[in-house]
Amino acid sequence: MKKHIVCIGALCSALLVNQPLTAQGRGGARGAAGASGAAGRGAGRGQVPAGQRTSGFPQYTRPLASQDELARGKALYDANCASCHAADLRGVLEKKGPNLLRSTETFSDKQGERVAASLAKHNPPVNLPMTDTVAITEYIHSIQAQMGAQGSPPGRNPVGLTYNVLVGDPKAGEAAFGKMCASCHSVTGDLKGIGTKYDDPKTLQNTWVSGSAGGGGGRGGAGGGQQATVTLSNGQKLEGRLVRKDDFLVVLMLPDGTRKSIARDNGVPKVDVKDPQEAHKKMLLVMDDPDNKNMHDITAYLATIK
Ligand code: HEC
Ligand code: HEC
Repeated sequence: MKKHIVCIGALCSALLVNQPLTAQGRGGARGAAGASGAAGRGAGRGQVPAGQRTSGFPQYTRPLASQDELARGKALYDANCASCHAADLRGVLEKKGPNLLRSTETFSDKQGERVAASLAKHNPPVNLPMTDTVAITEYIHSIQAQMGAQGSPPGRNPVGLTYNVLVGDPKAGEAAFGKMCASCHSVTGDLKGIGTKYDDPKTLQNTWVSGSAGGGGGRGGAGGGQQATVTLSNGQKLEGRLVRKDDFLVVLMLPDGTRKSIARDNGVPKVDVKDPQEAHKKMLLVMDDPDNKNMHDITAYLATIK
């Protein structure tokens, strides 16, 4: 992957400050920041996904927090901040709450320290435990990491702006698909007819950007579309769709359609559950697409797959 450093005004210094924060540096700093949260956050934290940028704007290079942490941050944000900064983080005019997606305070924040300082300056001050402020900041960063042009989250259109989604170049999109998607998808296989299945370009784009139909909420039941890997005591690994998991039992639907129930004792055997959207979250970071060129090209290409 091509590496380049971009500096625009104030963001340049933010970038340089963030630069040495590799996985290790971050992990260390975090441990110091909030002892109570540190243990629970271990898994999924601190490692830079393979292929993730190591240079560029901080919002595209900082490792994302674990799914648990982001979910906690979102819940805390919705409860404590959304009334003034809006559910989509773009600010509520009547409450004078600024857009947090475009805020230097949130961009430059590393461990919740700038956001905490802002909260102390609120009138009246917003008092939260530091671990909660960190979780909220991680959530804000996770949205910034996916942010499209004009600060709008990908695939969302919070201000009701209408625009033509099919502005990309299908040929360039085909090439980009070959590079970024073909390892997991094929337009003659699982994505056959995808342009017909989602014939509204905006829905098509939302679907492939998020990696799921219906945008959250919809996957009810134990496991929904989650893939899980069970590692048996003899080292054998079973992979399949998670049907059920508790302390005593794990049930998988194997790729050949058979159901497999495995008794568990004290968390043994180990079950690794995959967030079905994880692949796409990583992909967006790797895609390194601040101008959304790849996004528009790929959408234009997929729209031709009828
Ligand atoms: C009652 C409304 C209200 C609530 C609730 C609120 N804020 Fe704010 N926030 C504001 C206002 C108004 C400003 C602008 C204050 C200023 O400029 O001094 C602001 C400023 C900020 C800033 C600085 C933005 C910048 O670029 O200068 C950050 C960061 C921030 N808020 C984060 C949060 C977070 C995180 C929460 C939830 C924990 C939160 N706020 C809750 C009203 C609110
Ligand atoms: C590392 C593997 C991986 C890569 C790379 C990947 N995807 Fe996916 N994609 C998935 C998985 C897994 C799902 C299913 C998520 C679920 O079950 O909810 C998915 C779902 C989708 C869907 C929804 C399918 C449907 O019928 O609703 C689309 C569209 C899609 N991906 C397009 C893309 C495009 C375009 C790219 C490249 C820019 C891409 N994916 C890259 C793994 C990947």
